[in-house]
Amino acid sequence: MEKIDRNAPCWCGSGKKYKSCHMNMDNKIHMYELQGHIVPPHHILKNAEDIRKIKESSVVNMAVLDAVGNMIGPGVSTQEIDDVVSRVTKDMGAIAAPLNYEGYPKSVCTSINEVVCHGIPDPNVILKEGDIVNVDVSTILDGYFSDSSRMYMIGEVSPEKRKLVEVTKECCDLGVTMVKPWNFLGDMADVIHRHALENGFNVVIDIGGHGVGFEFHEEPFVSYVTKPGTEMLMVPGMVFTIEPMINMGTSAVTIDKEDGWTVRTADGKPSAQWEYTVAVTEDGCEILTR
Ligand code: MF3
Ligand code: CO
Repeated sequence: MEKIDRNAPCWCGSGKKYKSCHMNMDNKIHMYELQGHIVPPHHILKNAEDIRKIKESSVVNMAVLDAVGNMIGPGVSTQEIDDVVSRVTKDMGAIAAPLNYEGYPKSVCTSINEVVCHGIPDPNVILKEGDIVNVDVSTILDGYFSDSSRMYMIGEVSPEKRKLVEVTKECCDLGVTMVKPWNFLGDMADVIHRHALENGFNVVIDIGGHGVGFEFHEEPFVSYVTKPGTEMLMVPGMVFTIEPMINMGTSAVTIDKEDGWTVRTADGKPSAQWEYTVAVTEDGCEILTR
């Protein structure tokens, strides 16, 4: 940690003096660092103005998911979902982050049944009664990123699939309860992991969440299978996603060799995911997207 003069302007851009802004917090973080913990670098921490901008992006992000909720159903193609995401995002003055991201060809991810994540919208893929589908929307507004995904159940779905969808949402809500300063990402991960296991499900290990706000994907990588007291220390100003992928069967996944994107369960059994963006506040957590 570099030494900053107590009367110099704070590194966070608030315009306040360091001593009356982040100095005490930095000293506390340094104590954890000396104990060997992983601590967040300054460049991923957001100040009040940054959070305000991410919230504006989040308003669009959630409005897009609301619009998807109003049109999705049996007979709808995943391309039609992409069309709605693209149009509503543009109408609200924002940009869909997935389009052209590392070569991704569409504006949203649509992941049906055994597709774990990164399903590519396609005019030939038509939703049918009994499907469960994750729609993952990522939004850029005025340079600030927000990210969330929801599950949609198409018509009547089997009790097993319904349970998977509901337990996965419960996992996210439980995860949120562990988000507060001086907890660790592993504290959050462990409540999610245990809830999934208690219900007979498994958590995907290889793919996780991420810091978000200034970029689409920032530090830290967020696992949902790690142990309490491990992984990055949570401090005010951190913004990251809670987006566990929960599988009915094995946690193992495959990536489609042809398109290079579509992630499927190795055993072909269903998978579910919900995604929230959360901010660590002075005394707890604020949910920015859900
Ligand atoms: N939205 C996904 C996430 O939650 C990332 C999708 S990357 C894309 O992190 F390129 F497929 F869009
Ligand atoms: Co995400």
